[in-house]
Amino acid sequence: MLTCRHCNQAVPVDSISSIIPGPDGLAEPFVPPHPPRPRRLAPLPEFLRALRRSFLDIWPQPSFEQDFAHRRILLRDIFLCNSPATVQEAFVDHALDIERKSPQMRHALRPLLGDGLFISDGALWKERRRVVAPVTHVSRLASLTPPITEAAGERAAAWRARDPAQPIDMLAEMGHLTAEIICRTIFGRQLGGNAAATVVGAFAEYQRAVGQTDLLSLLGLPDWMPRWQPRRVRQASRRIQSVLDGLIAGILSGAGEGEASLIRAMAEGVNPATGRRMDREAFRNEAAVLFMAGHETTANTLAWAWYLLSQSPSALARVQAEADALPGPAARFSDMAGLAFTRAVVEETLRLYPPVALLAREAVAETTIAGRRVPKGSLVLAVPWLLHRHRKLWSQPDAFIPERFLAGGEAATKPRYTWIPFAIGPRVCTGAAFGLTEAVLCLATLCRAVTPRLVPGTTVYPICRLTLRPGDRLPMLLEPRHG
Ligand code: HEM
Repeated sequence: MLTCRHCNQAVPVDSISSIIPGPDGLAEPFVPPHPPRPRRLAPLPEFLRALRRSFLDIWPQPSFEQDFAHRRILLRDIFLCNSPATVQEAFVDHALDIERKSPQMRHALRPLLGDGLFISDGALWKERRRVVAPVTHVSRLASLTPPITEAAGERAAAWRARDPAQPIDMLAEMGHLTAEIICRTIFGRQLGGNAAATVVGAFAEYQRAVGQTDLLSLLGLPDWMPRWQPRRVRQASRRIQSVLDGLIAGILSGAGEGEASLIRAMAEGVNPATGRRMDREAFRNEAAVLFMAGHETTANTLAWAWYLLSQSPSALARVQAEADALPGPAARFSDMAGLAFTRAVVEETLRLYPPVALLAREAVAETTIAGRRVPKGSLVLAVPWLLHRHRKLWSQPDAFIPERFLAGGEAATKPRYTWIPFAIGPRVCTGAAFGLTEAVLCLATLCRAVTPRLVPGTTVYPICRLTLRPGDRLPMLLEPRHG
């Protein structure tokens, strides 16, 4: 048995297929940081304080072992689905009864996304989903991914040219890289490339301003009660919306003609049910959805992967061996088959640090889960952070072991809803294939160019407000490799 450095719990070592030397060279799997796990749920005032700080800080030990739980917090019933079976029952079998996003999510994102599909439900969600989902479908990946190869290749060249003694903030670097990629993908290479910096700055500002948990909603107060939004939230939304409006107007009036872009694909897409095209405001809201959903999630995944690799020399060596075997300096979609271990690193990163750590829904009708009555208005949760580290589902749940995701590894033997970083059911992420491919191609291209080292003395700690990040900064030194 080994003792986890973060929670002091004993963990068995005999069930894993390979042991990765940790940063200290000891033959033990690397156990990255997680918040302490008290024995039981904190009393309400302390619980609410922890919730405001980070959604990860509220979970006691039993939450990593339970299959299903219910709690009433003041006026609201909260149900936690914490096993593949209960997740399936709620999010797949009874999806229609719980299709509405939680009030917290809707209030936090409405100033930015308007009626965008991420926070809409019912007929409007269905209509938008029919137009938006096909544009990032897995069948279009070959034509969508050149901006990934291009932007990652440019970043690798820039990293090789920089002074290796100067640290970079890897979280910000990955934010800029994925913003660049999603901008080029949504708006075309030319227009999107120019706008990326402005949009990413305003999104970061939005996230900082809106990061506070909406306690009014959690406590069960009705939707019509006005919620206070700081001025900074409104300002950041307006800034983003005006950039998006300008870009969309440009594309719809013919700028960047001939370039592939998601906006052009959406503009050409007619909703098969209504025969209608989307109007300008809908375009803007869906562009904001794609940007928000498709940039920070992948950025956080990559930042965590860099951190985990920097602490796991043998995993890094395997990723670099795959990267060195690439036919060109930057990985392309056609290289994916040769990047099986890199992909396993990304999948293990998504298990340990799922960027969307909480899936929360409001029951729009009374339903049942695990034989329990779930009244209309209840909050129904699936929490990838818990499910992915569940004691009964994973061996060494807190350890970084990418091998689990290789062919024949532990992950392949699990029930379908054990690993859910892209959600499940009808509201599953429309960009899952794109996001996963993007993370693999970027990691391979950049690992070929540099070896990452965490700046000595840096404390990395997970924090989750809208998404799960390694704190506010991730300072790293980059050692250049061959050209
Ligand atoms: C590693 C990267 C990504 C992760 C982990 C991720 C995860 C998720 C999750 C968990 C949801 C559901 C959220 C909920 O139910 O509350 C979601 C929804 C969504 N994602 Fe992703 N995502 C990623 C990348 C992307 C990319 C690259 C795009 C677009 C290009 C995208 C577009 C969307 C959209 C449009 C939705 C809303 C779907 C709906 O409500 O019908 N995502 N994503």
